[in-house]
This record gives sequence, structure tokens and C-alpha cells, in this order.
Amino acid sequence: MIARKRTLPRWTLAILLACAACAPPTPPAMPTTPSELTPPATAPAEPTPQATPDATAAALAAAREEAFRNARLRMVETTIRARGVSDPRVLAAMETVPRHEFVPDQYLAQAYNDHPLPIGFGQTISQPYIVALMTELLQLQPGDKVLEIGTGSGYQAAVLAELVDEVWTIEIIPELAQSAEARLKRLGYDRVHVRVGDGYYGWPEEAPFDAIIVTAAPDHIPQPLLQQLTEDGRLVVPVGPPGGYQTLWQLVREGEEVKAFNLGGVRFVPLVGGGQRGDRP
Ligand SMILES: C[S@@+](CC[C@H](N)C(=O)[O-])C[C@H]1O[C@@H](n2cnc3c(N)ncnc32)[C@H](O)[C@@H]1O
Repeated sequence: MIARKRTLPRWTLAILLACAACAPPTPPAMPTTPSELTPPATAPAEPTPQATPDATAAALAAAREEAFRNARLRMVETTIRARGVSDPRVLAAMETVPRHEFVPDQYLAQAYNDHPLPIGFGQTISQPYIVALMTELLQLQPGDKVLEIGTGSGYQAAVLAELVDEVWTIEIIPELAQSAEARLKRLGYDRVHVRVGDGYYGWPEEAPFDAIIVTAAPDHIPQPLLQQLTEDGRLVVPVGPPGGYQTLWQLVREGEEVKAFNLGGVRFVPLVGGGQRGDRP
């Protein structure tokens, strides 16, 4: 258990600072003549310090964001760093991307729990630890070109966009692709390019990619994706039958050779389309 410093919401601090800045008023001199005891005919209205509705809404919104931020930092500490993800850039990206913006309203309270959540159409936003682990396995450098297969909510794409200049992502369900694209734009992730299609075949017009991440499970390794890697590119992909456990693979291309590293069991929704034919090498 990691002890956390209790912090006051930002708006409380602002009020405290504002109050601290007000010097205590000097008591007025006691009136000495009758004229000073007579109130003026029209007394000036007492200024009542009242927050405008806009200021109140802004203070509430700031307090809410602060609470989400604290939950996010706690999540990274207790479920991601504690389980072995150590790349500081990946940890910083996980601390930055507001996962609560990517989950449906009814799951807001669970946004920073370490499990997948439904996003509609039978699909899920992945578990934060798995997002961090797969991102670390991509071994990204700032100038890298990255392709994601399975945009879903757009959350993984946003994490990638914190680490590289441009991200390409493909989603097979048009409604998810459209909402993810709008959400990413609204949050300022302008350098994420979203396309609707079967990601099994990659994005040949933009290839080669330094790294490719597949966030749904094919039952075999997609050869088109391997072919769209640079000479030293990395492919991170869960492979296995739909409905059960799959194996997470990191494939590292070294020229014409490919080295495969088994990262253990995971559970993903199936990569539909070309990913489920089962008749490919
Ligand atoms: C586990 S979700 C991905 C979560 C997503 N990365 C996120 O951060 O929210 C898997 C996604 O892959 C999509 N998908 C499945 N098969 C696909 C295919 N052949 N091409 C592209 N996307 C596919 C699903 O529709 C689903 O949105």
C-alpha cells in the first residue's frame, strides 16, 4: 500500500490563497459627532461576495479533473509500475492520458480500475496494465511511425501519440472509428490518423512502420503486418483462438529474420476478418 499525500482540490486552494491575500480590515474609528452617527439617506449596497454560476461550474470541473488525475497517478503506481513496466516515457504517457474521457459515462467511476470496460458493439477498452505493457514492448522512439490495429475507443492510440509524432490506427466497426476520431480530435490528438477497414491487411500506403500493435487477437500471425515493418520493426500481437486465452507475442524483425518473444497468456476480443481465417502460415 503506498501512502499518498492528501491534496486539497485546486478550487479550495484558490479560495484559501485568495483569503490569505486579504489583509484583516483595520477597525474603523469610533464616531465622535452626531452627524457621523446618522446613516446616509441612501446607504451604499454592501458588496456580497458571490460566485457566478460560471465560476462555480469551473471550480467543480477543476475539482473533478483533479480527482481523476489522482486516481490515474494511483493506478500507474499500484497496477503498472508495481507490476514491472519501467520505461519512464511509457509511465508518463499513462499518467497523462485521461482514460475517463474514453469510457462511456456509466463506467466513469471505474475508469481507473485495472480491467477492460465495455465501449459498445461488443467491444472493450483494454485493461490499463496491458496497454502499458504492450506499449513498452513496442520500444518506441520519438520519430517512430506506429500503426495500431483495433482503434476501439482511441485510448491506446492516444497513449501512442504521447510517445511518437504520428500514429495510424485502423478500426473495422465504422461507428467506433468515427467516435474515436472525434474524441481524439476533441482532446487535441490531431496527429492520430483513423481509418475504417480490416486491419489484418495493414496500411500499405503508409508502410513501413517502426512498430505495429494489434489490440484484438487473430488466430495466426498476420503476414501482411510483418511485411509492413521496417528492417528492425516490432510487432506486438496476441495470437490464439477466439473466446479463450491467447499468447502475447513480441516479434522483432532483424532484416529477413524475425525473433519471437512469448510474453504469456492474455485475453482479447477476436481480430475478425482476415485474422480468423486460420488458413495462413
Ligand atoms: C480490445 S478492442 C481495442 C481497444 C482499443 N485499442 C482501445 O484503446 O480502446 C479491439 C478492437 O479491435 C477491433 N477489431 C476487430 N477486428 C478488427 C480488424 N480486423 N480490423 C480492425 N479492427 C478490428 C474491434 O472492433 C475493437 O474495437
